[in-house]
Amino acid sequence: MAPRVSADQARREQMVTERVVDSFEQAPPRLRELMQALVRHAHAFVRETRLTEAEWEAAIGFLHRAGEISTEERSEFILISDVLGISMQTVGVNNPPRDGATEATVLGPFFLDDAPEVPLGGDTAQSAPGEPAWVHGTVTDTAGQPIPGARLEIWQADESGLYDVQYTDGRTAGRACLFADEGGAYRFWAVTPGAYPIPTDGPIGGLLEASGRLPMRPAHLHFMVSAPGYRKLITHIFVEGDGYLTKDAVFGVKESLIKDFVRHKAGEPTPDGREVPDTWTEAGFQIVLVPEDGS
Ligand code: BEZ
Ligand code: FE
Repeated sequence: MAPRVSADQARREQMVTERVVDSFEQAPPRLRELMQALVRHAHAFVRETRLTEAEWEAAIGFLHRAGEISTEERSEFILISDVLGISMQTVGVNNPPRDGATEATVLGPFFLDDAPEVPLGGDTAQSAPGEPAWVHGTVTDTAGQPIPGARLEIWQADESGLYDVQYTDGRTAGRACLFADEGGAYRFWAVTPGAYPIPTDGPIGGLLEASGRLPMRPAHLHFMVSAPGYRKLITHIFVEGDGYLTKDAVFGVKESLIKDFVRHKAGEPTPDGREVPDTWTEAGFQIVLVPEDGS
């Protein structure tokens, strides 16, 4: 950008940046690299935008409100990272596409690591209301070899677009873990995902509104898949045909993760004989993990 200040002013501003960068010279190498780059970029932002003091105060107030509304189960700071695309940029930097491995996407703020275990074919929805969905596939490595006993963590919003932690009654629903069988196969019931808005009751809601941006996420089901010797995969599958696939508030959609949730008629026999009086859906998802050594 063309400088809008005198050469003298530009020199003074550059000196401030350099003094702060130099102050991290003695930090351990990685911390030094991160902090010096952060300072350079943040100072460039202030100088390029000619940030006003009122805007600086507004930004500090925004961060205060983010802290006030954040809890163990609900991090406004993850939302900030998500809606600015920083989460997806970090995912992309750390998980480049390779050898047909399943693509990763955002973790989001609603993962809990103590989800109850269900047996293979069990119901991860628990008491979460919604149309039943039968989800199945196989976990393999990039050479196509099954990964027996791979651990799958599943979490999702219910038909009202809410995760269990967004209710105040302490329920655990729409989340569970299960293990693939000796052939790497897995199957479970969930509920057919629906599109929902990310939380808008904090400062991020205000930012999206002021910017004319939608808070919506396209319908999806979260997966975290792990097995000894493999990189942990954090991803979702998205529902083909969802109207928000191109407008995800957190930029998490990848073409390879869009799956057909085939709808079956009410009363049609289910794969495991479960009696489902209304319609149900079925989706397949083949999961490919990358070895930990990256080979
Ligand atoms: C989610 O998919 O759960 C999510 C991801 C990012 C922000 C908010 C919610
Ligand atoms: Fe989600």
